[in-house]
Amino acid sequence: MRYNVKPIHCRPWTLNGLSLKLIESHYENNYGGAVRRLNSIKQQLESLDFTTAPAHVVNGLKREELVAINSMLLHELYFASMGGDGQPIKPMVDVLTRDFASLDGWRAEFRAMGYALGGGSGWVVLTYVPRERRLVNQYAAEHSQGIASGVPILALDMYEHAYHIDFGANATAYVDTFMRNIDWPALYQRYQDACQVPAPRSLVQAEFGDLPGVDVEEVKVMMASGQAVQVIDVRPRHFVSRQQEIAEGIEWRDPEQIQKWMGELSKSEPVVVYCAYGFHIGCKMTIALREAGFDAKYMKGGHSAWKAIGGSTRRM
Ligand SMILES: [Fe+2]
Repeated sequence: MRYNVKPIHCRPWTLNGLSLKLIESHYENNYGGAVRRLNSIKQQLESLDFTTAPAHVVNGLKREELVAINSMLLHELYFASMGGDGQPIKPMVDVLTRDFASLDGWRAEFRAMGYALGGGSGWVVLTYVPRERRLVNQYAAEHSQGIASGVPILALDMYEHAYHIDFGANATAYVDTFMRNIDWPALYQRYQDACQVPAPRSLVQAEFGDLPGVDVEEVKVMMASGQAVQVIDVRPRHFVSRQQEIAEGIEWRDPEQIQKWMGELSKSEPVVVYCAYGFHIGCKMTIALREAGFDAKYMKGGHSAWKAIGGSTRRM
């Protein structure tokens, strides 16, 4: 398999303040060089016997492959990022306002990141993160830092080869020029494409159907706000005796004795139940309580999730 060079997306002669000489050199030498290097690395990898290859050879080639593949992809995005009139369009402004409080807020951060790389090198990338369904500005140093699962939709090349021919060491002027050339309609199209990437799959416990659960962060807020809620730890006894700790302000109830303690609960206040990790015990207790007429939900992630969000605990 070979990686092919893609045509440059922007029309270089239309760019405002960036010379043909700069863009041609960048595309032909740096982008083209990345694709050529990638194919050469690929060829070496294909002829490598991984069962006998020394670790340093595998490390070196795989690391260089990552650098070259990201350099190829980010350069393609960089050229596709430009070619517009730099005038933000409303739907994209709305998205940036949602994720950065305002268009100016996004622009200030993105620009400052570019300025900060002046004299250094790396990429500034606006990336869609499917898990959160939102955008993040990120650095990509050495072409190889990317948010796992992120979809880059705008890239600013801050390697010196991207601006030195026209701007010398004046990286700030280059960043401002890039901003004036952003193709906003194309950016919004890439955002819409990125939104098609689904979030990572949630934990599914098919055996418990649509049993209502509540996020641990929400439970913490409910407790902190003094909301009337009965939160109960129902970890099995052997878990409790091993860990010997419990969330602050919570009582433990033995799941084996549910019929004994159920009567102590109030049916007029909601109940939140959790076990060690939010699997079977917590769900089964929730079902039993709901069948008895309580407004019960299980806390997702259980005691471990409580600790993972930094919830305080006490010794038992
Ligand atoms: Fe570049």
